[in-house]
Amino acid sequence: MTVHGYTYGTSAVAKSPVLPADFEDMKKSALFGEEDVKYLRLSHDIVKDQVEQILDVWYGFVGANPHLLASFTGKADGKPLGDYLGGVRKRFGQWILDTARAEYDQRWLDYQHEIGLRHHRIKKNKTDGAPSTDLVPFRNLFALIFPVTFTLKPFLARKGHSAEEVERMHAAWVKSCLLQVTLWSYPYVKEGDF
Ligand code: HEM
Repeated sequence: MTVHGYTYGTSAVAKSPVLPADFEDMKKSALFGEEDVKYLRLSHDIVKDQVEQILDVWYGFVGANPHLLASFTGKADGKPLGDYLGGVRKRFGQWILDTARAEYDQRWLDYQHEIGLRHHRIKKNKTDGAPSTDLVPFRNLFALIFPVTFTLKPFLARKGHSAEEVERMHAAWVKSCLLQVTLWSYPYVKEGDF
């Protein structure tokens, strides 16, 4: 299955301005280590079969909050754009699997930068040709890490793993999301200040 606009690992993705060594330091800041890689990868087979249900919950949350849904509405009429929501949803599904794969190579780093650009006015709407708002406002980016990871936890617990394993997978997801959203912030941060 090809997912429209999912350009991970292709020549369409520019090199991240964040150096691998800087990302290594970011991991240390988040207390992210090999254990987290291990538990993210353990979560892969758990989330793999539940991607659509997880997306239903996350999209339900965005849909229930007009200030979030606003980023998926028409710039002219403020109405939700079904095609845009649907197109992004497929890439969001890929993102769940990529997060659980936890392969932090240059391709991964580059695609992180791309995702940041796609939230920012530099590239928002371009992938889907959507006539939507110009920018995902920065003020909501980090806050969304809580509902995304909190609502993931019951899915992590659904395949018979111990409470401790679920805790560790959950912590690894929280850290991974913190690191990723930090990388996505690059275009929002004043030049030279990242
Ligand atoms: C796109 C995840 C925060 C609105 C995406 C994509 C992912 C994602 C995986 C698709 C990237 C791709 O094209 O491959 C997340 C996560 C967030 C977050 C994990 C925070 C933890 C937000 C917030 C909003 C938002 C707060 C505002 C409502 C959007 C929009 C797109 C998008 C409008 C489409 C961008 C485009 O035009 O290409 N997000 N997001 N996101 N997200 Fe987020």
